[in-house]
Amino acid sequence: MAEISIAVDGPGSSGKGTVARKVAEELGYQFVDTGAMYRTVGLLALRAGVDPRDAEATARIAAAIRFRFAFADGRLRVYADDADVSEAIRGEEVGKAASAVAVHPAVRTALLALQRGLGNEGGVVMDGRDIGTVVLPDAQLKVYLDAALDERARRRWMEHPERSFELVKAELAARDLQDSTRATAPLRRADDAVLVDSTGRGIDEVVAEIVALARARRA
Ligand code: DC
Repeated sequence: MAEISIAVDGPGSSGKGTVARKVAEELGYQFVDTGAMYRTVGLLALRAGVDPRDAEATARIAAAIRFRFAFADGRLRVYADDADVSEAIRGEEVGKAASAVAVHPAVRTALLALQRGLGNEGGVVMDGRDIGTVVLPDAQLKVYLDAALDERARRRWMEHPERSFELVKAELAARDLQDSTRATAPLRRADDAVLVDSTGRGIDEVVAEIVALARARRA
């Protein structure tokens, strides 16, 4: 049976990461979280005192990172230059910096070859914003995973209950706007992507739907 490449795109807190990881587990595929790469560039920029809006400096950082991905206890670990950044990249500030560095074409180019290298062999589920449109335009299955803003904001708020719901929602909306209106590789549903709306649905149900689509395409 030919193993396929699966692209999963969508806005923040649409459930992409969890869904894509579980789909990969069920199919025995590799899971690639491209958001983690942008987050790592954002993290290293913040640590170095570099403004995430600085295109040249952030592109230099992106080009120099040696990434390594590993699984431990079913979870993805991300290493940058041998340092484990898996937890550090999940903060809200880093998410904001990731969205800012992701605007720069030179940063995207630096990460693109790496992402294609991981995705072109098949047997992979890759999640991000531009996987179906730019990174893997020939993916055999493309999914655009969406959910209503209120529900996505609620999901994110549950991860950061110490913050105000209204603030979490406003930040999420601002991030979506930045990701979908940038000039290079904006968040967009590919013409041939299957739209999956996870509003009001459980993770397992969404995973089952995508796994069924994948099995039909690789048969
Ligand atoms: O999915 P995430 O929240 O971990 O992604 C963090 C940021 O990285 C997101 O706001 C936009 C950027 N990103 C991107 O531009 N392209 C991708 N393929 C993945 C993420």
